[in-house]
Amino acid sequence: MKLWKGRFSGEAAASADEFGASISFDRRLFRQDIAGSLAHCRMLERQGIIEKGESEAIQGALKGILDDMEAGAIELGPAMEDIHMAIEGILTERVGEAGKKLHTARSRNDQVALDLRLYLKGEIVATLDLLRSLVGLLVSMAKDHRDTVMPGYTHLQRAQPVSLAFHLLAYCQMFLRDMGRLGDCLGRMDALPLGAGALSGVSYATDREFLRRELGFASICENAMDAVSDRDFALEFMSCASICMMHLSRFCEELVLWSSSEFAFVEMDDAFSTGSSIMPQKKNPDVAELIRGKTGRVYGGLMGLLAVMKGLPLAYNKDMQEDKPLVFDAADTLRDSLSIFAEMLSRVKVRGDSMEAAAKAGFLNATDAADYLVKKGVPFRDCHGIIGRMVLYCLAEGKGIEDLSLDELRGFSERFDDDIYGHIDVRACMEAKKSEGSTSSESVARQIAAVEKAIGVDGDG
Ligand code: ARG
Repeated sequence: MKLWKGRFSGEAAASADEFGASISFDRRLFRQDIAGSLAHCRMLERQGIIEKGESEAIQGALKGILDDMEAGAIELGPAMEDIHMAIEGILTERVGEAGKKLHTARSRNDQVALDLRLYLKGEIVATLDLLRSLVGLLVSMAKDHRDTVMPGYTHLQRAQPVSLAFHLLAYCQMFLRDMGRLGDCLGRMDALPLGAGALSGVSYATDREFLRRELGFASICENAMDAVSDRDFALEFMSCASICMMHLSRFCEELVLWSSSEFAFVEMDDAFSTGSSIMPQKKNPDVAELIRGKTGRVYGGLMGLLAVMKGLPLAYNKDMQEDKPLVFDAADTLRDSLSIFAEMLSRVKVRGDSMEAAAKAGFLNATDAADYLVKKGVPFRDCHGIIGRMVLYCLAEGKGIEDLSLDELRGFSERFDDDIYGHIDVRACMEAKKSEGSTSSESVARQIAAVEKAIGVDGDG
């Protein structure tokens, strides 16, 4: 039965009912909806808007509904429209007249805004936990791979040698920023919309400060119209989720590349790979690919909600009901991706020998050879030209720079001395990096300590 049917003389078309119902997806907000109703009911009683006995009956029944919902003992059909109507309907069935008073000084507009904020606050806290443990995993891997040398790339061409630790620490920075962004988003969303009413406030002596405390918000939405019209908090969450998925996706892309025979830098665990239905030799990095794919889906949710909101006049419009499937999907996808990614990564086998072999081929020490000449007084741009010609020569001879004799080296510049060999060894190239944040072992140790501090882990060296 429709709780708003008074004004209507005709029946709703079954098709319109079904089309407009959100119960199939907003049912997952039942805990938040009941928490909001309990607080609202207590506030109504404290303010003398409803009687103590009524309040007790309502609260008792709401708790019973919560238990029954948790136990899956309540059937929620499309006739119930949405979770707010469903719970109020069941409440009234269970307690009679008193149940009909719960919606005093409240609208579904402030109610749904409350539910969604409560839900997202919880999601963010859970997501932050996953991010914190992912960063913990990365930093512990970094500690194990301080001496694993690999090529650093630009344009996917071998560029300069780095440690795998350094590469992993780059991801730590990205995920730490994701944590910061989600924290900022949480801080801004931490304002109570309940009490705004339909759009302009309510004409009862309500106590929003009490509601704020009961429901654990840091502040109260200042403007009732904004409180019910705003979905910035959902958009912000989805943009944080999109950026975080982008980071996961780049990492997955690297794992896909690195696990190919062309790279052979890592081997994915069997548990996170699949075979081919036709090619017996295949071992595919499906999980990594799928996270990369799901990133597109999370971006889609963000674009979808931006598009839903862009033309809406204030205040609430039914269009806004479309926010929930998009938000839920993004939140679930982000959480699932973060947790399976960490599981997969913790079981990746690193092939340090192939990484090091790749770092030793391809003239990754060319910049350092040029830097050597700079230190001997040759202007950098001239050094660049000299080493460039030397690389051309090496390519023709099938040699590396470190394989050239001092005589061959001197053919390119008189300034070369015997000490050059100590400067162009891959590890020496890394250690020579003096700037803050570099790949040298000293800088890597500092970065490890800083990341551990950021996630509250006690470093053990
Ligand atoms: N199911 C609705 C939604 O998700 C709840 C709010 C309905 N408000 C209204 N005035 N029709 O947006």
